[in-house]
Amino acid sequence: MKVLLTGSAGFIGSHVSETLAAAGHEVIGFDARAGDDVRDQSALDRVMPGTEAVIHQAAKVGLGVNVADLPDYSSINVYGTAVLLAAMARHGVGRLVLASSMVVYGEGAYTCPEHGAVRPRPRLEADLDRGLFEPRCPLCGSPLAPGTIGEDAPTDPRNAYATTKLAQEHLSANWTRETGGTAVALRYHNVYGPRMPKDTPYSGVAAIFRSALEAGRAPRVFEDGGQRRDFVHVRDIAVANLAALVVTGGQAGTLAAYNIASGRPHTVGEMAAELAGQRGGPAPVVTGEYRLGDVRHIVASPARAAAELGFRAAITFADGMKEFATAPLG
Ligand code: UD1
Repeated sequence: MKVLLTGSAGFIGSHVSETLAAAGHEVIGFDARAGDDVRDQSALDRVMPGTEAVIHQAAKVGLGVNVADLPDYSSINVYGTAVLLAAMARHGVGRLVLASSMVVYGEGAYTCPEHGAVRPRPRLEADLDRGLFEPRCPLCGSPLAPGTIGEDAPTDPRNAYATTKLAQEHLSANWTRETGGTAVALRYHNVYGPRMPKDTPYSGVAAIFRSALEAGRAPRVFEDGGQRRDFVHVRDIAVANLAALVVTGGQAGTLAAYNIASGRPHTVGEMAAELAGQRGGPAPVVTGEYRLGDVRHIVASPARAAAELGFRAAITFADGMKEFATAPLG
């Protein structure tokens, strides 16, 4: 298939490009680093003819530092996707795979021993200051047990990045309704692996820890280190994109969303220890610091992606972290 890949020079995009090419697809790379911007209609008109599918990875990533970031996130992620979808419609391209994120859910899934499944409110500063990190039941205040989140969970985007990722999903759903095209959103969990961008204010925790270790500094684990995430290897992410490209069926007018996760969650403390161990130190420090607005636990069910995309992550946490401990960063 002839595939237009936006963000092809990025961390995830470069792995997607390699995996698609290895599977025999013709990849047309499109990346701001090579002077091609998704907001540029004429650049898209140049590459769209003959394209059979678009994989849209280009985005401003991270969580957003403050409101000053809102215009950039909106322009690149929302407006850029709108321009891309309009170009696809103009050129009759009927297949889209969108890079989305688990951050569209806000908090993860929780159950109260008394009240069953509940959605906790954002954690209180007063609780965090006292080291009470677990979200509480909104009805009785008991600490909650984390569970796995499925794709039908309500969305609750809590920062600029999450808001624009959800907007991309909605725009893509509009596009399928109007054009009858097929749109698949892959909600990535915490992606890590070779070429992950170095430590920046927008980096995820795996890159921050890996950069600290490279500089001979101890990874600083916030809260009590017990917060859970699903760390999924970037080559597994690439395989999920390949699987999504050939998905058939689905309902025209409906965006199919999938959690793309390993299905084997770990705490941030465990991740720090594994990475530090593989690199030979220094050992992580648990600081008790917190970032207001951080999610405590977010763990996905990978069941729908397994059933409908035939996707199962293949790279284990131990193998992936061993490679990542010394693999070059981007
Ligand atoms: C991350 C990404 C988000 C992406 C999502 C899924 C960022 C900033 N966040 O969200 O954009 O959509 O994964 O791939 O890119 N922590 C430490 N020490 C540090 C930094 C962080 O312990 O030095 C902790 C945080 O308090 C948090 C956890 O690590 O509990 C994860 O943080 P982070 O990777 O920044 O954000 P996610 O919420 O997982």
